[in-house]
Amino acid sequence: MAPPFSMLKILGIETSCDETSVAVVSESDGRFFVEKNLITSQIDLHKITGGVVPEVAARAHVEALFPLLLEAGVARDGSGIDAIAVTAGPGLIPALRIGVEAAKVLAYAWDKPLVAVNHLEGHIYSAWLGQWQPTFPALVLLVSGGHTELILMREHGKYKTLGTTRDDAAGEAFDKVAKLLGLSYPGGPEISRLAKEGNKEAIAFPRPMLESGDMDFSFSGLKTAVRVYLDASCAKGASIADICASFQEAVVDTLVTKTMRAVSEYHPASLILAGGVSANASLRERLTNSAHENHLPFFLPPLSYTTDNAAMIAVAGLFALQRKQFANPIILEADPHISF
Ligand code: KG4
Ligand code: ZN
Repeated sequence: MAPPFSMLKILGIETSCDETSVAVVSESDGRFFVEKNLITSQIDLHKITGGVVPEVAARAHVEALFPLLLEAGVARDGSGIDAIAVTAGPGLIPALRIGVEAAKVLAYAWDKPLVAVNHLEGHIYSAWLGQWQPTFPALVLLVSGGHTELILMREHGKYKTLGTTRDDAAGEAFDKVAKLLGLSYPGGPEISRLAKEGNKEAIAFPRPMLESGDMDFSFSGLKTAVRVYLDASCAKGASIADICASFQEAVVDTLVTKTMRAVSEYHPASLILAGGVSANASLRERLTNSAHENHLPFFLPPLSYTTDNAAMIAVAGLFALQRKQFANPIILEADPHISF
């Protein structure tokens, strides 16, 4: 059903980690149109240190943000824009602050409504950027560099966390294992590229917390298992591709098994996969098949909206705007514990 937005155009700003992104998204009859979604990646910068240094990321956001606004064709007086949505947390505080301060200044100067968006909620709303839209209640598997969550979304803005990671997030595990293997940052895309050439049954890595009886995850033990394997003499016979394929299979198996258990328990009307790790081809395929077997409508963000982008923040912002969740441009601050 089309939500009553009455043709809004919103500017989205995302600077929570290592991508600076600016988007202009409009809505008509409940469909979202991404007019612009520009991303400047800092990956090359962070390859040098093998991970993100928050102050370095913040400085790069400062350099990238206003050129992106100009490139997006955003008018200097804000004409044509009805509201501004910005990621306020969670994320790296120095990085978040750059987007938040820019959004505050623009909202104040243009006298437009400002919305503070939770980055995780933004990832969930990437599922609304496809051709069809999820129905409620929706079960969400959110897997990113900082989070692994199973969330029951009863309606817009109403979330219940069913399970979370007790230590490393799924994306973090990909990045750390890639580092152990001497691969470059970020590790997820590298591991999934190499895994295509490997044998996923070559090494029996553990499936963490599969029998824990709850919906939580834990990936640090799996990372340790890879390290122990590499240290052991038997590693000499295995190719990097086999290690990548076997590690990826352990992560995907764990994520899919626990997600489908939550499906059996909560009987959602749809299933959503979101977050940077949702770019992983094996995870996409396995969850697509499992959803199909269960006759469950499955929503995957288009590949271009899986990793951090401002279009998803803009869509989440439009729904928050509809609920009249305005932020005050005088006092808004980056908030690592922003409610969700
Ligand atoms: O959502 P995202 O862009 O940033 C956060 O909010 O954290 O997710 C980034 C994470 C990184 O850990 C990256 O390695 C992982 O997503 N990632 C992948 C793939 N593409 C990105 N992990 C596995 N396979 C991929 N193809
Ligand atoms: Zn993210």
